[in-house]
Amino acid sequence: MPFSSRLPAGFEPNTLSAALARARSEGRDVLDLTVSNPTRCGFAYPEAEIRAALSAPGVLAYDPDPQGAASAREAVAAHHGHGLRAEDLLLTASTSEGYGLLFKLLADPGDEILVPSPSYPLFEWLARLEGIQARGVPSYFHDRWHLDLGALEAAISPRTRAVVVVNPNNPTGHFLSKTEWHELTDLCARHGLALLVDEVFSDYALEAPVDRLATALEDPAPPCPVFVLSGLSKVAALPQLKLGWIAVRGPGASAHLEGLAFLADQYLSVSAPVQAAAPALLALAPGLQAQIRARLRANLAALDAALAAHPRLSRLPVEGGWSVLLRRPAVDEDEACALRLLEEASVLVHPGSFFDLPGGGHLVASLLTREAAFREGLDRMLPLL
Ligand SMILES: Cc1ncc(COP(=O)(O)O)c(C=O)c1O
Repeated sequence: MPFSSRLPAGFEPNTLSAALARARSEGRDVLDLTVSNPTRCGFAYPEAEIRAALSAPGVLAYDPDPQGAASAREAVAAHHGHGLRAEDLLLTASTSEGYGLLFKLLADPGDEILVPSPSYPLFEWLARLEGIQARGVPSYFHDRWHLDLGALEAAISPRTRAVVVVNPNNPTGHFLSKTEWHELTDLCARHGLALLVDEVFSDYALEAPVDRLATALEDPAPPCPVFVLSGLSKVAALPQLKLGWIAVRGPGASAHLEGLAFLADQYLSVSAPVQAAAPALLALAPGLQAQIRARLRANLAALDAALAAHPRLSRLPVEGGWSVLLRRPAVDEDEACALRLLEEASVLVHPGSFFDLPGGGHLVASLLTREAAFREGLDRMLPLL
């Protein structure tokens, strides 16, 4: 029996994934410069504290609240500040689940969401699995990244329900400027659209301009409905614990929360142990974030030192986040280039086209990579670009 049309026609890995699997099966020592799983990057996790948090008395009780346990929501609200209250929050098992709930809340099958691109590739599938379509609207780079607000407005159709932005963006690192925020919320308000803001990387500002919107929660009363998504996977580098959240602001906030709670009540997917542990886990976030920021800075400095010997190559500013975009002469397709680096240097980086970066001249590397591997990967690959 065929699957529904929400799913892809087949599940074959893409060419780069297939080549990676082959290289590994041949026992080649591939340096993975795309690693984004913080539990595999050599950070010093406070194991005793994490285990203690997961042994709190509450882990044995089941007393579900569709919005999430009040104690956990209070801890998330205190973590964010900016006047956020526990009652403005709904807990989810991940940001991905948060998107699923929001798309169900806001859109009917056949509706659309607009996503400034390049962006997080999962949106295409998260939307499609809800029967809706994610339409990319290219942003542009001129000294820094800019939303193309004119193109966004032109792309709005009668089926458009929401705009989804990532702040700072993955993989470009672009933080919205305060001006962009006001123009974007105004555009959404004029067209009756909701605005979803993914802020999983907001604690990781690196080369951020002073006029950046550090978080959408700076705006206490946006003119359109705003849903801010985040979670433990980046905030506390604990993706395995599966806790995300949605903060709801703007017109209709309490009705939106009621709708979200109804949806969440059908699943009740957030485990009691992680909710009981959340206050203690969030208290560990600053120490883990400090380690990550040090890694991001060290790798960026190593990259700049390595690039000095290769004037044909450059990198884009990293306003925030965990990725860096390398720029090279686009003498071949970026996917062909990534394959060549894997075959000839046993180094894995992502082609920019995986994230809808146009032109073939970008490669994406993760600054989370262990420092020695990152430096060796650069030594091996830069001469080949
Ligand atoms: C922009 C963005 N949002 C969300 C996530 C994942 O968050 P979660 O683990 O909570 O689903 C990622 C992971 O890389 C991401 O890049």
